[in-house]
Amino acid sequence: MATYKTLNGVDFSSLHYRIEGKGDAIVLLHGFPLDNTIWDDAITALSKQYKVIAPDLPGSGKSTNEDADLTVEKMAKAISEILKNESTERAVIVGHSMGGYVALAFHDIYPEISAGIAMVHSLATADSDEKKEQRRKAIDLINKGGKEPFVKQMIPNLFPKVNNKVPPEVIIWLTAVALETSADNLVAFYNAMIMRPDRTSNLYNSNVPYCWMIGRDDQIMSYNSILQHSTLTNVNFVYVYDECGHMSMIEYTDTFVRDLEDFVRYCFNRVE
Ligand code: MLT
Repeated sequence: MATYKTLNGVDFSSLHYRIEGKGDAIVLLHGFPLDNTIWDDAITALSKQYKVIAPDLPGSGKSTNEDADLTVEKMAKAISEILKNESTERAVIVGHSMGGYVALAFHDIYPEISAGIAMVHSLATADSDEKKEQRRKAIDLINKGGKEPFVKQMIPNLFPKVNNKVPPEVIIWLTAVALETSADNLVAFYNAMIMRPDRTSNLYNSNVPYCWMIGRDDQIMSYNSILQHSTLTNVNFVYVYDECGHMSMIEYTDTFVRDLEDFVRYCFNRVE
């Protein structure tokens, strides 16, 4: 049976997370505008060997956020509070998309904690001017009451345009999850992403291993741009999934879990 906890206080009024299993720790950070349930099937498998911690980022799922000036660094700080609460001093940090931006910020602030970083359909670059402009238009739409059309338009794009093997129920489920996020928090996340710094230079000479999981048909983050990142770090695990969009943990759960386990095993057993 799944175990959930809520941490109150600190800088966030309420932080909700799922925790399963025992052993070396893996932290799973979801993307925008989702919550920890995207990892449900992966957690069932990973928790047989590992302690898995999957938070709802502040403002997502059952975690609250009243801070309009949310940043990826503040989200990283929230994750550190959860790890402190779980007496977890070392973990592989896995970030999906926006969760990857938080993972990089986390590693910047708490380098001693990360045993490895897995970037799942995510990038280290900052938003381009064009991307910032797109986000500002979306913020405008959401602020004018357009949360529902915004969410209904974005969720199907998480999957490939052609050869999408994901059943319609998954779109319905993820749309419902996204609609649970308040308009204010959707805007806060977009502003946090607009403001996040470029962390590409952190990849050079980093002594922490990186894993890059890439969907060849990802409509949100181009295959080529992520692949280029994977040449920058010293130790790389690169997994490219064919006929996969932005959601490998759902589209190809078994393969995703097997690949992540390979990476995590390496991170905890390597001689530094
Ligand atoms: C996500 O999946 O977390 C977002 O699409 C990331 C982004 O918009 O940059």
